[in-house]
Amino acid sequence: MASSEIPKVSTLLSSAKEHFLKVYTAEPEVAACAPGRVNIIGEHTDYNDGFVFPMALPMVTLVVGRKNNSKNCQITTLSESADEPRQVKFEVPSATNKLSPSKPAWANYVKGVLAMFTSGVPGFDAVIVTSVPLGGGLSSSASLEVAMFTFLEKLTGKHADTLQAKALACQKAEHEFAAMPCGIMDQFISTMGKEGNALLIDCRSLEATLVPLNDSSVVFVITNSNVRHTLTGSEYPNLRKNCHEAAAIMGKKSLREATNDDVQKHQSSMNDIMKKRIRHVMTEIERTTNAVEVLKKQEYTTFGKLMTASHNSLRDDYEVSCKELDELVAAALEVDGVYGSRMTGGGFGGCTVTLVKQDVVETLIDHIKKKYSGSPTFYVCKPSHGARSLSL
Ligand code: ADP
Ligand code: GAL
Repeated sequence: MASSEIPKVSTLLSSAKEHFLKVYTAEPEVAACAPGRVNIIGEHTDYNDGFVFPMALPMVTLVVGRKNNSKNCQITTLSESADEPRQVKFEVPSATNKLSPSKPAWANYVKGVLAMFTSGVPGFDAVIVTSVPLGGGLSSSASLEVAMFTFLEKLTGKHADTLQAKALACQKAEHEFAAMPCGIMDQFISTMGKEGNALLIDCRSLEATLVPLNDSSVVFVITNSNVRHTLTGSEYPNLRKNCHEAAAIMGKKSLREATNDDVQKHQSSMNDIMKKRIRHVMTEIERTTNAVEVLKKQEYTTFGKLMTASHNSLRDDYEVSCKELDELVAAALEVDGVYGSRMTGGGFGGCTVTLVKQDVVETLIDHIKKKYSGSPTFYVCKPSHGARSLSL
């Protein structure tokens, strides 16, 4: 098989249990997992109150553990891509002992979730394993947050009031502990994904609607460029800020509210770059709602064209693509049976997502391997489950 083998959740669970026993010399009592995601269309629209259309992946982050009758938590990640040390120990948060971000960076996602878990956390030991590639734009970070929150729910028996509240708490963890002002897409889909469905999220009303996506004649192929070009890390926060400034110039709460007339009226107060950013967001919101309508009618040709138009807009107007992603999309579009292809996630590297007829998947993979100048990794994915606790 030319695509990467996606480990079964049961295989990850066995590995996590085995390591837990080795590290903590006891059997874990609680297990939970949450998936990574691929965004099919609707990019850089979530923090503009727009629409996004992601699906949950079969790749998950999984946490096993047990209470340890102490005031400390000890957490080990088995991911070799996480920064050292991969085992951390700290006191559980309380009114007098608040957590704050520190090194290693990976533990901040965990600490953030503990800090947002307002019903209180006992001391515990845990092991984390994942099949989501770290930093590849498939939301390993959100899957870690949501898996940890789900683990804590099972450990304490105290659940968030709603799935929405849970996703928002995990988003807040990322804002406050990882200094990443992300939108709501990743945590929503990791929390609410359902097998055989993608999720249309209205990021203004926070309404999330499942849309069936279970036609076995087509499939999404994710191609990891295996490059990442975020030089300072401030690219995303700056884009977000630019959009909010643009909305403010037009007297709007967000770019979702802006019309072409508004842009026309205020154009003398905007530079060309701002106009391009606005154009991407406005056209992308429209493409996303149109894409969902045509998908319901299984009009894959039109759906694919919207995906490719999304890529072009991210490349030319939002300027978050890169040479490698453009190469991958161009190569995919050369293959007969490919409906559309685009970069997915924040950009500057990471992955593309391609909608293709099931029976040409191998041809697509072979062609991209021939044409791409780097070393790609492929995942052939169906929409999968959101977060859940697991029996041990
Ligand atoms: P993405 O979420 O697209 O994969 P990010 O850069 O937003 O990329 O998040 C990746 C970071 O999340 C990693 O560098 C690491 O700090 C943390 N992370 C994700 N998964 C794990 C894991 N299983 N173990 C430890 N840290 C993880
Ligand atoms: C991600 C971010 C999401 C979304 C996306 C771009 O990295 O976490 O919230 O904004 O970029 O669509």
